[in-house]
Amino acid sequence: MAELKYIPGFGNECASEDPRCPGALPEGQNNPQVCPYNLYAEQLSGSAFTCPRSTNKRSWLYRILPSVCHKPFESIDQGHVTHNWDEVDPDPNQLRWKPFEIPKASQKKVDFVSGLHTLCGAGDIRSNNGLAIHIFLCNTSMGNRCFYNSDGDFLIVPQKGKLLIYTEFGKMLVQPNEICVIQRGMRFSIDVFEETRGYILEVYGVHFELPDLGPIGANGLANPRDFLIPVAWYEDRQVPGGYTVINKYQGKLFAAKQNVSPFNVVAWHGNYTPYKYNLENFMVINSVAFDHADPSIFTVLTAKSVRPGVAVADFVIFPPRWGVADKTFRPPYYHRNCMSEFMGLIKGHYEAKQGGFLPGGGSLHSSMTPHGPDADCFEKASKANLAPERIADGTMAFMFESSLSMAVTKWGLKTSSCLDENYYKCWEPLKSHFTPDSRKPAGPN
Ligand SMILES: [Fe+2]
Repeated sequence: MAELKYIPGFGNECASEDPRCPGALPEGQNNPQVCPYNLYAEQLSGSAFTCPRSTNKRSWLYRILPSVCHKPFESIDQGHVTHNWDEVDPDPNQLRWKPFEIPKASQKKVDFVSGLHTLCGAGDIRSNNGLAIHIFLCNTSMGNRCFYNSDGDFLIVPQKGKLLIYTEFGKMLVQPNEICVIQRGMRFSIDVFEETRGYILEVYGVHFELPDLGPIGANGLANPRDFLIPVAWYEDRQVPGGYTVINKYQGKLFAAKQNVSPFNVVAWHGNYTPYKYNLENFMVINSVAFDHADPSIFTVLTAKSVRPGVAVADFVIFPPRWGVADKTFRPPYYHRNCMSEFMGLIKGHYEAKQGGFLPGGGSLHSSMTPHGPDADCFEKASKANLAPERIADGTMAFMFESSLSMAVTKWGLKTSSCLDENYYKCWEPLKSHFTPDSRKPAGPN
């Protein structure tokens, strides 16, 4: 596969033409009477027309046929996709999942869409407020099938196997330790090359933004230039009656047939595009004296709610870094949080739990549910010699953190058979070290 090209930058106005058709973008206007190369002009709006400039998102696509050329949509099997947050009774326990099992291609061919499994979520699709967390487990490319989501944006975190993603804006190769965001309405089709697994954070009605940096200044965390947007690429491919467009609409799946590949956009311009980001580029900021900065310091992208400082969902990572804090218990602190914290592991070993939390698995610590280091971690870290040390080398854990109180689906609690019934036991050996007669701490300090 020839190396793919990208446009660097986050949220910029971009313009791209497939090099086979120079001058495909109309000059000086969006909607000429006849477009160059006799293409059709189509606008994709990602925000209300009337949004202020800072949040207004749209792109113009110049394509061989407009997207409207399809047979009617019909309902299809929902598989394990759901937005029914009342399938099972609420469960406030700490939940942990073993690695979600990927079906073997020799037993059943499953593509990205048929391999979507909703794990948890909250909110309401119809009023554009909420989120869902899905696990994708697949072994087969989508072929003559594409998908678009009318409900929200997908932030896709591949954990095993790379994804070659065809979009209307061009192609992206997304490997584990990279993420991509495919925003509402954008059609895409995914090729996979092995048994493939990953996580999806779906947000309804909002788009991901870079977090404000406040006193950090103009640079740091995820830098805008490290986000990559595909360049225009088209195929003029006839598939008489044989191309299937799948749509998630109000939480349900629908399919329509059409005669051509939807990846027939010869040129585009605008600021509403898919993009990818390599997590290795994250500039980590942390305490260099004592104590912890809160984990918000590791926020890559945020989907804001209407309440200042409160996110529908944040995407947060725990990258390799130095731990240098003096006189400090260095692993994550014991914690109860009004936010809900879903964690996943792309690779390696998470510092607060050396066993049990495995790549391809997950955990959910719901609103106000206590959590923190396991007993082994606490004992070791309380006695550790506090020299500067590398933390999380070879590891990438992440968190989807939400202000909404999420419900877990029946698939998550039962059908997946991946729930670790013994999770709570990792805290059982924690014992009291209380010495009422002596204030002197027992540790090396
Ligand atoms: Fe926490």
